[in-house]
Amino acid sequence: MHAGNSLPSTIPSLSHFLDVQSLTNEQFWALLHLARRLKEERMQAGRNEPILAGKTLAMIFQKPSLRTRVSFEVGMRHLGGYALYLSHEEVGLGKRESAPDVARVLSGYVDGIMARVFDHAHVLQLAEWGSVPVINGLSDYSHPCQALTDIFTLWEQMGNLTGLQLAYLGDGANNVATSLLEAAGKVGLSVRIVSPVGYQPDPALVAQTDADVTVTDDLDGVIGADVLYTDVWTSMGQEAEHQQRSAALAEYQINDQLIAHTRNANVRVLHCLPAHRGEEITDSVADSDRSLLFAQAHNRLHAQKAILAHLLGGIPLV
Ligand code: CP
Ligand code: NVA
Repeated sequence: MHAGNSLPSTIPSLSHFLDVQSLTNEQFWALLHLARRLKEERMQAGRNEPILAGKTLAMIFQKPSLRTRVSFEVGMRHLGGYALYLSHEEVGLGKRESAPDVARVLSGYVDGIMARVFDHAHVLQLAEWGSVPVINGLSDYSHPCQALTDIFTLWEQMGNLTGLQLAYLGDGANNVATSLLEAAGKVGLSVRIVSPVGYQPDPALVAQTDADVTVTDDLDGVIGADVLYTDVWTSMGQEAEHQQRSAALAEYQINDQLIAHTRNANVRVLHCLPAHRGEEITDSVADSDRSLLFAQAHNRLHAQKAILAHLLGGIPLV
């Protein structure tokens, strides 16, 4: 693992940002360092250097968004570039027009594509057929921008990541949990997935990450955790399963009782948002001093600026 001044000076550049697993530990750490530099620059000088002047990002959304849409659009502006919002109705990715055709057309107009899709194959096809960098802004399979942000937030808030114990509660098989597990392996974070059978991660995914992972349906899995993480029980596209999911996951709510069960008075809480308050998390936790929810949401901006600066601006990974 590399941190601080121990980073090697030549790290291969990325062509796309599709999944955490395809990055090396060094590439992942370099993006974290770049995010920190860009955040500090913005905080200290009130602005970033316009390294993306004249560059345009097309943003395709098949699903709704607050954080991803606004943080990418504002991030492009902060770096001197421009972002173009394309709704699902307009593009009809995979319906009105195939992903390979959309990729080849957009590649003649813009310098990068960010896509939020249902079918993960669509982001892979955009990357395969286009000639500009593609960023996965969430698919049914993964949410790598969120995971980069989550690790950045823990690094910033907790200092040291190695050996930190994170317990993830709820739907341990969803896109956010998948990317978090992949990212944990890049930085030495230990993860306990605390989820009922049927909502636990694919054992093949657990086996392929370098993370120290335990999977349990027992709420005792939270004892001694430094950080708790949860996400909605019903992800976008799963609305028809809402009742069944809510029943299956009801015990795994992060509430005051669960916080007490960690036996850690300083335990902190993450949630990628949007929260379904009263389901996976209570107001009493989400709005408490231990909640990092809004720092985490705000860091989407800084983490994604690093991705943009590297992929569209050619800023090297060091
Ligand atoms: N966390 C996240 O991706 O939020 P949005 O769905 O609002 O973009
Ligand atoms: N798992 C959630 C994440 C939202 C950011 C979903 O896919 O809806």
